[in-house]
Amino acid sequence: MSTTTALPPLSQLLNRHRSGYALAQGFYASAEVFERDVEAIMMQEWHFAALANEMPATGDFKVFELLKESVIIVRGKDGQIRAFANVCRHRGSRVCLEHQGSVSRFVCPYHAWTYGLDGALLNARMMGKDVDRDTLGLKPVACELFHGMVFVSFSETPTSFDAMRAELDGPLKNFGLDRTKIARRVSYPVAANWKLLVENYNECYHCGPAHPEFKRAHPTHMSADKVEPYNEAMEARAAAQGVSTAFIDRVGPLCPDGSVDYTYSRHSLYETHDTGSEDGKPLAPLLGRLKGYDQGASDLYVGMFNPMLIYNDYAVLYRFVPISQGKSVQEIIWLVHEDAEEGSDYDLERLCWLWDVTTVADKHIIEKNQEGVNSRFYEPGPLAEMEFYTQRFLDYYVAKLSA
Ligand code: FES
Ligand SMILES: [Fe+2]
Repeated sequence: MSTTTALPPLSQLLNRHRSGYALAQGFYASAEVFERDVEAIMMQEWHFAALANEMPATGDFKVFELLKESVIIVRGKDGQIRAFANVCRHRGSRVCLEHQGSVSRFVCPYHAWTYGLDGALLNARMMGKDVDRDTLGLKPVACELFHGMVFVSFSETPTSFDAMRAELDGPLKNFGLDRTKIARRVSYPVAANWKLLVENYNECYHCGPAHPEFKRAHPTHMSADKVEPYNEAMEARAAAQGVSTAFIDRVGPLCPDGSVDYTYSRHSLYETHDTGSEDGKPLAPLLGRLKGYDQGASDLYVGMFNPMLIYNDYAVLYRFVPISQGKSVQEIIWLVHEDAEEGSDYDLERLCWLWDVTTVADKHIIEKNQEGVNSRFYEPGPLAEMEFYTQRFLDYYVAKLSA
């Protein structure tokens, strides 16, 4: 990426930042800031890695990768899912080279040190008896199972899921997210800093101009006062279909001490739409224990970087994957009921249409955003009221980097 002048150091960028405004160019263009982002944020937060359903049997594993890190997620003999750094305790080779599979043990491809499903070192060839095998197991990585979704964190002191479980288990129960499967998982490369992806997801100020397809289904492209009557009308429909309309907001100062940040809310679709589809018609069998369609969609956040939109018949999970200061990947994961059969119960193209077309449009506007931000003429402008959640993300971000 070319910028016009030398970028100011991070301390100066942080000092100059004004809350309620976009970030300065250096936050989106400097390698120094990107490295700090990785350490202060990406390595501390939780990341959606897999569905537990993808590893139904003992020894089933998936490998999750983020930046330099690689994690083995495996179901043990006791049925528990655990995560381990994919780094051999001998001389550091990757241990598991497959992205998924099923094994009875992991054998390092370099010198064949062998690890059990619980990470314990079982065999270190030709090593003397004085090598303490008990201390040379694969290093555990923090791993939480939440409604069938496996999250990992690289932090040594990760935030807790307890408060989130206590508050969200009820509202989420009927969606049966633990009984879903991945219908499709797509990576969209975006030539932009990861923060521009997050900022974009967190506001619907752009939905009117940028997303004609989304706008046909979701009133949230309008201001809050115009959306409210739709949400009020949805209350009775949601109650009848077993859908929670609780409003739970635990981000930043509202988040209990030591807890992961989380939010849950439900907003109404237009009554022409049962779900997020092109024609408004259902796309797949109802999720979980839902009884029917309430013409609504739930916004769920597990941590700052795992937003999810839950319709009655499918859900979409978002991941913002940083690659370098100017490159990211936007990953979209579509979930349907685990018993739903592609072809007979849902058509994959119809299912994915809305969030594919919306993500392609987002990729375009985010890349144009990055191009403008790189200009010598760029100056951070004020945020709109509809960009409240983006401002909240920026406040969180600046606080983390300042800490
Ligand atoms: S690096 Fe794994 S056995 Fe040597
Ligand atoms: Fe968008």
